[in-house]
Amino acid sequence: MKTNSQLDAQYWQDRYATGHTGWDVGAITPPLRDYFAQLGPPDDRRILVPGAGRAYEAEYLHAQGYENIFVADLAPAPLQALQRRVPGFPPAHLLLQDFFQLSATPPYDLIVEQTFFCALNPTLRPAYARKCAELLRPGGTLMGLLFDTDFGLGAEPPFGGTREEYRAYFAPYFDFRHFDTAYNSIAPRQGRELFICLEKK
Ligand SMILES: C[S@@+](CC[C@H](N)C(=O)[O-])C[C@H]1O[C@@H](n2cnc3c(N)ncnc32)[C@H](O)[C@@H]1O
Repeated sequence: MKTNSQLDAQYWQDRYATGHTGWDVGAITPPLRDYFAQLGPPDDRRILVPGAGRAYEAEYLHAQGYENIFVADLAPAPLQALQRRVPGFPPAHLLLQDFFQLSATPPYDLIVEQTFFCALNPTLRPAYARKCAELLRPGGTLMGLLFDTDFGLGAEPPFGGTREEYRAYFAPYFDFRHFDTAYNSIAPRQGRELFICLEKK
């Protein structure tokens, strides 16, 4: 399995440059779209999409009228792709940064997870949960999708896991509002991912 230091900006930039982006489904996925749809009219909440890649969620939310959306990624290529697709997206909201170095000031209201957690070396999972909690205001929400599946012991992401494992990472910092198999996953992920909605304690 590749180490944390091997899964660096160069690694991810190379995957975009060579088109090895099997995780990229080219659109917002239904579980996230349906969650956003029930939020009501757009407001000024601060939203972070970490490990955002080409950030179709940010594009969707921007089109809905949300203005405080921030996307973070180690690799410049996907952020540039978002900028090309959505010229009106504020350049200052494209954070070419390591998620673990992001500032929590001011805090975010909502963090959106989509195939970022599974891209990290699993040793970073406790730190991921802690960092999400640090970045959110009390009562803020971490929502999205986590693979509840075994991808085997490959060297490259995605790295799988189980809901029992994940629960232990988040329980110290979050109340669990929803943590169950998504019913509206895209076909290849049907039955293999959890929809999570966690509220920061
Ligand atoms: C599997 S891709 C998922 C991208 C996107 N969320 C999607 O679903 O299309 C993982 C992304 O996380 C980024 N990434 C990996 N480690 C990161 C880190 N420590 N901080 C910020 N971004 C990171 C990679 O560059 C890559 O774009």
